[in-house]
Amino acid sequence: MPLTQLIYSSRPFGFDDAILSQILLTARRNNANAHVTGCLICRGDLYLQLLEGPDEAVARLYDSILEDDRHLEVTRRLHRQTETRLFDGWAMRDDPAQSWLWTKEEVDAGALDHADEDAFLAVFNRIARRIG
Ligand SMILES: Cc1cc2nc3c(=O)[nH]c(=O)nc-3n(C[C@H](O)[C@H](O)[C@H](O)COP(=O)(O)O)c2cc1C
Repeated sequence: MPLTQLIYSSRPFGFDDAILSQILLTARRNNANAHVTGCLICRGDLYLQLLEGPDEAVARLYDSILEDDRHLEVTRRLHRQTETRLFDGWAMRDDPAQSWLWTKEEVDAGALDHADEDAFLAVFNRIARRIG
């Protein structure tokens, strides 16, 4: 069955452990029910999230994420159909941004806007394969 895979980036607004725990708690509960899986990379200056699941479930979830005031500048970076999940079995994996990700300075300088879809996918591929 074809699935939607969507990646977006955003700027955390009021990032701390409590906010992150709350987001992940909600995500894991809702996503399990909606057959959505994915991965949320979290850093003080950046959220990068991959969502995958049935078209309608991902569309509905992305709509509510767009409205969420715990982050700003929500920008879609990839939107495609796929046959296979990258994070099968993960209601929402979380990952602290690692050194191979764009640095804060690079993000501030607009690196995300110059990256293509493959670059965003590569970030999540590495996590899914536990490389890096
Ligand atoms: C960075 C970020 C990632 C989020 N990821 C998810 C998610 O994967 N699944 C989800 O249900 N809600 C996620 N949310 C929360 C949604 O925006 C929204 O608050 C939630 O879906 C509402 O669910 P509720 O009606 O059960 O409280 C995320 C929010 C933020 C700020």
